[in-house]
Amino acid sequence: MKAVRVHEYGGRDKMMFEDVDRPSPGPDEAVVSIEAAGVNYIDTYHRTGLYPLNLPFTLGLEGAGVVDAVGERVDRFSVGDRVAFANGQGAYAEYGLCQADRMISIPNGLDFGTAAAAMLQGMTAHYLSHGSFALQPGHTALVHAGAGGVGLLLTQMAKRLGAHVISTVSTDAKAELSSGAGADDVILYTQADFKDEVERLTGGAGVDVVYDSVAKDTFERSLACLRARGMLVLYGQSSGPVTAFNPKALSDGGSLFMTRPTLGNYIASREELEQRAGDVLQWVADGSLSLRTEHDYPLAEAVEAHRALEGRKTTGKVLLIP
Ligand SMILES: NC(=O)c1ccc[n+]([C@@H]2O[C@H](COP(=O)([O-])OP(=O)(O)OC[C@H]3O[C@@H](n4cnc5c(N)ncnc54)[C@H](OP(=O)(O)O)[C@@H]3O)[C@@H](O)[C@H]2O)c1
Repeated sequence: MKAVRVHEYGGRDKMMFEDVDRPSPGPDEAVVSIEAAGVNYIDTYHRTGLYPLNLPFTLGLEGAGVVDAVGERVDRFSVGDRVAFANGQGAYAEYGLCQADRMISIPNGLDFGTAAAAMLQGMTAHYLSHGSFALQPGHTALVHAGAGGVGLLLTQMAKRLGAHVISTVSTDAKAELSSGAGADDVILYTQADFKDEVERLTGGAGVDVVYDSVAKDTFERSLACLRARGMLVLYGQSSGPVTAFNPKALSDGGSLFMTRPTLGNYIASREELEQRAGDVLQWVADGSLSLRTEHDYPLAEAVEAHRALEGRKTTGKVLLIP
């Protein structure tokens, strides 16, 4: 089968589109014939070795498709079932592997591309808005990268929970998309200092929570945007990691809170996985959560998909189609 493999950490030139044996399932695993694979920022960290995996490996955590084979202990799913997953292995391929207890059935009427697009970023937006900092009416949230994959979904969920949303984006076109997702105020952070704008928009009060996926370029000013006892949810590092942090900044900013969450801890149990995936897929199916999936690439063009994502060219979800 064809797969996108990494033999050596590095740039996009280290992504090899090559022939490899089909995976076979371990006792608790399933092999899934991939119809659509999700591209996520974390894939670029696996590629560069920032988050190392054992070499060589096939990229991709997220996918949707049809169960092709199951291990001997799997009874939850059977060959032929339509499934999606957000933490499998080797989804940038014609066939990927996943622990069966990490897979979710795709509801009738939902296509594979939609299911793959909803899983990782949808469940991330879900735990950020319902778990890390549970939004309520009256809260004001600052959402960075508001037109990104997570950003568009997080904005919609925050609005659904009754919060006021201020987003940041880099271009006018992204500003339009972010407003369309429900952001009440959109800051073009390439043109104005977002800290000054937040101060102006909140009358100096600051926001209750900042959801920051950009990190290096935004971190210090994100802390400065918070009201006393507000919370910084630092969940990504698209501009690079935060390398120096003195906890005293939290007291200086007004007894602030900070968390650095990852999805895995918020879908650790089968129950929590089913609850978050169930909500997200249900909202997509009933039309109350809209997904933007206008960046589909053939599997052979995974390099281009990474180039677009890292080059801030994408909005919403990026998919690879084998
Ligand atoms: N912790 C978790 O559980 C978790 C789960 C999923 C994703 N994440 C993280 O969340 C972030 C967003 O993921 P995503 O897949 O939805 O990506 P994305 O937001 O669609 O794409 C990244 C966006 O970040 C913004 N950005 C700002 N500075 C950037 C820079 N120097 N280089 C590249 N992009 C920059 C860009 O938007 P503008 O052009 O508008 O600035 C860009 O479009 C990633 O950092 C990812 O690792 C974390």
